Order: sequence, then structure tokens, then C-alpha cells
Amino acid sequence: MTELAILEKIDWDFVKAETNTATNHMHPYPAKFIPQIPKQFIEQFSDIGDTIYDPFLGSGTTAVEANILGRNAIGNDVNELAVLISKAKTTPVNPVQFKKLDTLLNRVYKKIDEYYTGKIKDFKKPDIPNIDLWFKDFVIAELFFLKNEIENIDNQDLKNFCLVALSGIIVNVSNQDSDTRYVRVQKNISHFDTFEKFSKQLSKLRGKMQECYQDLTKGDSQFKVADTREENIFPDNSADLVVTSPPYPNAYDYHLYHKYRLFWLEMNPYSLRKSEIGAHADYSKKNGPDEFDFMRDMGKCFFNIRKILKPGSYFVLVIGNSILKGRSIKNDEILKEVARNTPFNFVTEFTRNLNLRKKSFNPMIGNIKTEKIVVFENIK
Ligand SMILES: C[S@@+](CC[C@H](N)C(=O)[O-])C[C@H]1O[C@@H](n2cnc3c(N)ncnc32)[C@H](O)[C@@H]1O
Repeated sequence: MTELAILEKIDWDFVKAETNTATNHMHPYPAKFIPQIPKQFIEQFSDIGDTIYDPFLGSGTTAVEANILGRNAIGNDVNELAVLISKAKTTPVNPVQFKKLDTLLNRVYKKIDEYYTGKIKDFKKPDIPNIDLWFKDFVIAELFFLKNEIENIDNQDLKNFCLVALSGIIVNVSNQDSDTRYVRVQKNISHFDTFEKFSKQLSKLRGKMQECYQDLTKGDSQFKVADTREENIFPDNSADLVVTSPPYPNAYDYHLYHKYRLFWLEMNPYSLRKSEIGAHADYSKKNGPDEFDFMRDMGKCFFNIRKILKPGSYFVLVIGNSILKGRSIKNDEILKEVARNTPFNFVTEFTRNLNLRKKSFNPMIGNIKTEKIVVFENIK
């Protein structure tokens, strides 16, 4: 059977599939795809030792699957947090390193206790805009002591791992409603809850990393903070396959959902705001961009991707529809249109019915029940 014939037989709904595999659930990420999708394409369209590229890296799902299948991963995203999460998810941290974390937790606990009992009078509140609106005073203190200790870790891989664990709890302990809802709500949080949530998160991530440590050593990864509309992010002909899910118009606002995570990690939500394709904040404006602007952006991306991808290799995109100024936009058709002006040949398309409970949905983009998996070939 050819690779395409094998792919045609797959039930892309993956209704019963376990998605919490390897390091895939290390950090929440809106519109993350399930690991089974990149896995199938990597297995069929590449060989061990090949390089798999994701130009809209997100939380690194393609990269994790590439590494555990013995392929190398490259990727870029305009969201600095996406790159940090992807690094932490693909870097095998030697379990011996984890022993340092017990000391770290003890030290932080002591500091927080000293703060609550008045032995530590004050601390240097981070310079984050409107921090008091979005975090309770004592939550700020606990996050500060945690962040401070993490900064002192000398092993960079372990430090990234802990920063991702910290980032993972920030929305939960803040006054932000949820990962895809940037509004303030009242939450019931008490002293030491932030510390407890962090230690639970850390122990969960440690367990996951210990389970798949060996698997992650099978491939290398290299990620960059970069806008896919820019040229030469990676050398020409450096990838054997691209598997990605691009941003789509009016769907998400990564700069908003991740705003306070980015601030705490000393990253910049304002530069993300400027370079994020498809942001709801822009597309929902009366005179904001439309599907033709999206096409132009994707055209630039396709131009650059096709140089990085070796001729004769496959380019796979997973995309859903969106609602733009009251109209339903078929984004798979837009991508096919964009490809017509490039050397990408349309090969095939699969439809996937979504398990609405498993995906992070933004009601602004409508009640989307299916998404498309579009396959192109970079002609020789
Ligand atoms: C649908 S998400 C990808 C999710 C990913 N497949 C995963 O499983 O986590 C789209 C990503 O595109 C990124 N993005 C938006 N505009 C971009 C641009 N101009 N260049 C590169 N990445 C961009 C967003 O930050 C977001 O991480």
C-alpha cells in the first residue's frame, strides 16, 4: 500500500485516542492539535533521521512526535512562550537533575512562610502593568518567591522546565477567567495555594518527563522566535516534511490569553501583538483586515516554507473554518488558493470531526465541528 492509501484509511476523528501522551500536556495551549495527527504524517512521509519543520510551532506537538519517532525537529513561532514550552517538551531532562527540585521547593516554602509571619517584610514587586488588578497581593508574593528561586537554577534545561511549570499555573492563580477568556473574575484562592499548585504541577511534569526521557533522546530540536513571513529562518532545503496548524483569521488572541504569563516570564506581549497572524483583536474591527489580508500573509509564509522544505516533500496543514464579519470562511479553500501561486501542488484533503470536549474553543469563531487536513507537495 502507498503512504497515501494508508493515510486514506485512517479515521481522523480519533474519538477514543489518548492525547495525554509523552510531554504533550505539559502546558495548556489554545488550538493545540492532537499528537495522533502529526504522528501519522511523520510515520508515512519521513524516515528516521529526517528533519520535520513546524512554521507555526505553538506548543510543539509536531516536534515532540518527531523526536520520539527518531526524527529531528525545527520550528518557529512569534510567541516566545510557545518556543519555551516547545523547548521544555522536547528537551530530555535527566531525572537525576530533578533531585534539586525538592531543595528548591523547601527554600520557597520557607520564604513564603517568613513573608506571612512577618520575618520577610517586603519583596520587589515585578514591574508588570496592572499587576494588582490581575493578581491578589499574596499571589504576587508567592509567584515572586517561586520565580526568584527558579532563576537561580544553574542548569538551563531544568530552569526552562520549571519556568514552564510556573507558567502553566499562572492563569489559574490570576483573576483571568480561563486560557481563552481574557476577563477578570473572582476566584477563591488562599495563602499557599499558588505554592501548592506549582508543586503539584512540577510533580506531574516530573512524572511525565521520567516516563518519556529515553524517547526524547532519539531526535534533536531547534526552535526560534521568528515570524514565518520573514525569509531565511532556517537554511534552504533543511526540512523533509512540514506538519503544522496555522493561525486562522479572527480565531484567537495569543497575545491576550498569554499576556500575564509572558509578563511574569519577562517576555513581551506587545511584540507578539504586532506579529500575530489572524488575531481576533484585529480581524473583529469594523475596518480591520479581511480574508484577503490573511491570504497575503499566508502567501508570504508559503513562499518561505517552500524554500526550507526540500523539493518533492510534503506540506501538511490542519485548519478549521472561521467566522469573519458574520460570514463563514472556508480556510482550507483559502490555503488551496494561496498554494496556486506557489510550487505547492494540492495532493489530498481529509475531514476530521472534532471532539468538542477535547479542544479549546473560542466562541467568537463560531460552532466549528470539523477541521480539514490539507496535504500539498513541494514540486521538484
Ligand atoms: C494553531 S496554533 C499552533 C498550535 C500547535 N500545532 C500545537 O499543537 O500547539 C498557531 C500558532 O501560530 C503562531 N503564529 C501566529 N502568527 C505567526 C507568525 N506570523 N509567524 C509564526 N507563528 C505565528 C501562534 O503564536 C500560534 O502558536
